Amino acid sequence: MKYSRIAGTGSCLPSKVLTNKDLEKIVDTDDKWIVERTGIKERRILGEGENITGLAEVATKRALEAANMVPNDIDLILLATTTPDRTFPSNAVLLQERLGIAECPAFDIAAACAGFNYGLVLADNFIRVGQAKNVLVLGAEALSRIVDWTDRSTCILFGDGVGAVIFSESDEPGIVCSKISAAGKYKDLLYAPTGLGPDAELSPKIAMAGSAVFKVAVNTLGKAVLDVLEKSGMEKSDIDWLVPHQANLRIIQAVAKKLDLTMDKVIITLDKQGNTSSASVPLALDQAIREGKIKRGDNILLESFGGGFTWGSAIIRY
Ligand SMILES: CC(C)(COP(=O)(O)OP(=O)(O)OC[C@H]1O[C@@H](n2cnc3c(N)ncnc32)[C@H](O)[C@@H]1OP(=O)(O)O)[C@@H](O)C(=O)NCCC(=O)NCCS
Repeated sequence: MKYSRIAGTGSCLPSKVLTNKDLEKIVDTDDKWIVERTGIKERRILGEGENITGLAEVATKRALEAANMVPNDIDLILLATTTPDRTFPSNAVLLQERLGIAECPAFDIAAACAGFNYGLVLADNFIRVGQAKNVLVLGAEALSRIVDWTDRSTCILFGDGVGAVIFSESDEPGIVCSKISAAGKYKDLLYAPTGLGPDAELSPKIAMAGSAVFKVAVNTLGKAVLDVLEKSGMEKSDIDWLVPHQANLRIIQAVAKKLDLTMDKVIITLDKQGNTSSASVPLALDQAIREGKIKRGDNILLESFGGGFTWGSAIIRY
């Protein structure tokens, strides 16, 4: 029986820091409101000359180094994003070229903030059926490009960044259990129009019904983490770390409560990074591993939720 395990992680944040104080100069808001309602203090956004492909290249090189691998060891690239550098070729292909990998399958995943969980499931399936040995999965976002900088209810939330994880074939799990889903009936609660075709009249910026999204997120994620736990046959007390999607501290606290986890067992990055959509889980995972919090053998629960709605949960033995 083949399984997939994490061989290495890496991440890269853009250089420009945008604090709540900076946002006070752009929209009618204040640091106290943002911290109390979201937990976010600052976020990183792309500066002059920075782009997704460049950040993804650095994040991947860090993951390769951690895995003791070279680019040509990668035989599949899955890049989750809602904000690729080009519509096509996919950002996965742009990254492949940058890494100097002559040929391998490479494609983007469009599952909004849940994109990394979707990528993890795909990587696991490719490895289990023997079609890949080392799969590079990234969450890579430049939300600053599609944020409406005049809308105080959304522009305070988002940030840019890239997280990368290499999953490799293994005799032992690895990815113990995972689940992904989507419900298109919520399509109008959180979306970014293309500004083309049926969306021609709409501004191509993020639109969100914040409090409605909040309620569905808490309920859906609460159920998603208990579902994957039940599917794994593990107990709540077996989970060492929660690595949640970093949308709102109050949502994260509600999910932690469902798992009877104290907040010192929850990896938080949103205070410094905001919501980086599909990048938030691999960014948090990499940070926690590099800080020495998450150690080999620990059981980690990853969850994410985003526009669609889409969501996913997974239990990984690191
Ligand atoms: C966006 C979010 C932080 C807003 O918090 P909230 O407590 O729901 O706030 P509301 O949207 O109900 O707005 C409450 C008030 O604050 C105001 N407000 C909104 N943004 C503000 C800001 N940045 N600064 C100050 N006031 C603000 C609103 O205008 C509203 O004022 P009113 O009562 O006079 O109309 C919250 O809804 C949220 O996190 N939603 C989910 C986001 C999410 O999970 N996304 C996941 C997928 S990526």
